Amino acid sequence: MIKMKPVIVVHGGAWAIPDELSRASVDGVKTAAREGFSVLKRGGNALDAVESAVRTMEDDTVFDAGHGSVLNTDGEVELDAIIMDGKTLGSGAVSSVKNIANPVSLARAVMEKTNHVLLTGRGANLFADSIGMATVPTDTLVTEYERREWEKQKTYLTGVNELFNSQCAHDTVGAVAVDSNGNVACATSTGGIRNKMVGRVGDSPIIGSGGYADNLSGAVSCTGHGESILKVTLARLILLHIEQGKAAADAAQMCLRYMKERVCGAGGVILVTPSGEWAAQFTTERMAWAAVEDDVLWYGLEPDERCKEQLFQ
Ligand code: GLY
Repeated sequence: MIKMKPVIVVHGGAWAIPDELSRASVDGVKTAAREGFSVLKRGGNALDAVESAVRTMEDDTVFDAGHGSVLNTDGEVELDAIIMDGKTLGSGAVSSVKNIANPVSLARAVMEKTNHVLLTGRGANLFADSIGMATVPTDTLVTEYERREWEKQKTYLTGVNELFNSQCAHDTVGAVAVDSNGNVACATSTGGIRNKMVGRVGDSPIIGSGGYADNLSGAVSCTGHGESILKVTLARLILLHIEQGKAAADAAQMCLRYMKERVCGAGGVILVTPSGEWAAQFTTERMAWAAVEDDVLWYGLEPDERCKEQLFQ
């Protein structure tokens, strides 16, 4: 069997990342990309690689996922995550789950251990208990930075997308990968949007919106204004254009532009195709992203920024 070139791409959220978080955000995505790529390099599959990369970012408090998540109007943490296997179209997701440090792994357990695709709220937590997944106190998921920002900004104005482009937003991590067998996978995890209504679910855990993976076209993970991404089913829309022959970067750009024009929504995406073509695009002020292919680490933060480092020197 012909071996493919493995590739991983990760993002740490598309928003107006303030200068004080920019360095840590870039360092965080670089670490996650290296971590995910090391799984692929050892012969691991795409699913293991995206889970590992996303877990790394869930454990990094600079990102809004797992540790470092934002608070809802009640001052609580409610987490959403999805993982998807492009070989089988198997998918697992959790929404509004509490006290779980690595929701992406709970999403994977939903995919592998249940007959369902999405478990929400109490049901997701009951399932976590039933498989012996440890819970953590809410306080361990919340940073001092987040408590201060939450106090400053107590109202999330549903539907006002300008808010998403301001300093107030804080958004999502994700990973996509293709392994040496040409299998693709995606994973996305988030604490959502600060001061969201209790029970609000964004795009991240919704198949076709926050992520999608299909060996016939590619894998996508989205970030940005969840309500806008849901309205245009952004991940699936991009793959539709890939299926129709568009290049990865063109499909991503075109669909983000469409989301902006059609529903005034800003965001970002990462994607990879089974042949190893990849892209990272966004319409927000910044998005921290990193990718590894051929032992080269690529990364960026500003529009059109592409920095390069050699791995394993
Ligand atoms: N994109 C993450 C969210 O809106 O919840």
